[in-house]
Amino acid sequence: MRGALCESAAMPFADDVRAGLTALPKTLPSRYFYDQLGSAIFEAITLLPEYYLTRAETEILTAHADEIIANAQPSRLIELGSGSAQKTRYLIEAGLRRQPNLDYSSIDISQTVLAATANALRAQYAGLTVNSYQGEYYDGLRALAQANSRPGETGHRALALFLGSNIGNFDPPEALRLLRAIRDVLRPGDALLLGADLKKNRATLEAAYDDAIGLTAAFNLNILARINRELRGRFDVRSFRHRAVYNEEHGRVEMHLVSTTDQVVAIDTLPLHVSFSEGESIHTESSYKFSRDDVEHLARNAGFELQYVWSDAEQRFACHLLRCV
Ligand code: AVJ
Repeated sequence: MRGALCESAAMPFADDVRAGLTALPKTLPSRYFYDQLGSAIFEAITLLPEYYLTRAETEILTAHADEIIANAQPSRLIELGSGSAQKTRYLIEAGLRRQPNLDYSSIDISQTVLAATANALRAQYAGLTVNSYQGEYYDGLRALAQANSRPGETGHRALALFLGSNIGNFDPPEALRLLRAIRDVLRPGDALLLGADLKKNRATLEAAYDDAIGLTAAFNLNILARINRELRGRFDVRSFRHRAVYNEEHGRVEMHLVSTTDQVVAIDTLPLHVSFSEGESIHTESSYKFSRDDVEHLARNAGFELQYVWSDAEQRFACHLLRCV
């Protein structure tokens, strides 16, 4: 159960942990936050007073779902990173007000969340056909394109959904690559609704990623606990502390795990020994923040045209309707 098996391509977590912790500076990919515990902590984060993103986007979708649907006229919704799909319900309901039946395909990294969400949606909406794809976005998009290659079918518009500022976790070149991959499964006239957190003052941003009761710290530290659970790591999680900082030059909030002491950590199934000096950090997440121009640029380079922007009353967050050109 160790060595060769874990080094194969069938163990992407092991490979990515090895690559990230042997790099300088050290990194871990933020997609590994979302195991069962991490997904539950994230859901709790969305309820925090400091984490305004979810509430701001919910405000937008509550107010404008019918307008968004009227513009996109979808018979199909395709969602990346649906999670619990709480906010998606506003769009599903608006879609079902416009026409009695709707297809909903969702791609998410978390199997538990995906299955629970699919079941809940099927039970709640009789006119909704639900398909789910567990995996990373690119694999999901590929599977979706294969399942839906029905050439010649016209008049069936798709609206892709990439909400929650999930786009923010991708470095600019990766964000562009991902939007292009989304563009590739769509057709001219289809659209993408992109939710993005807006650039704003440092204090608001840093509080959103370093809340008073320590939920975001737990969310961040859970990635070390996950390495301990799944790869027989020997991290003393208590000897790392959570750090969140707005890197204004890059327009992103960074989360780090900072070693509070000189230490060597074994990860038995890799196997690997990782040395940390006191104050050394593992960069675990970037959350990019956007201006309207940032989104417009990104959209144009990926083959979309920015058509509409809806924002919350405090202008903290925006949903962008991008039309495929
Ligand atoms: C789900 C990726 C949008 O970056 O704001 C929440 C994840 N990280 N608190 C974000 C997260 C720290 C979140 N996204």
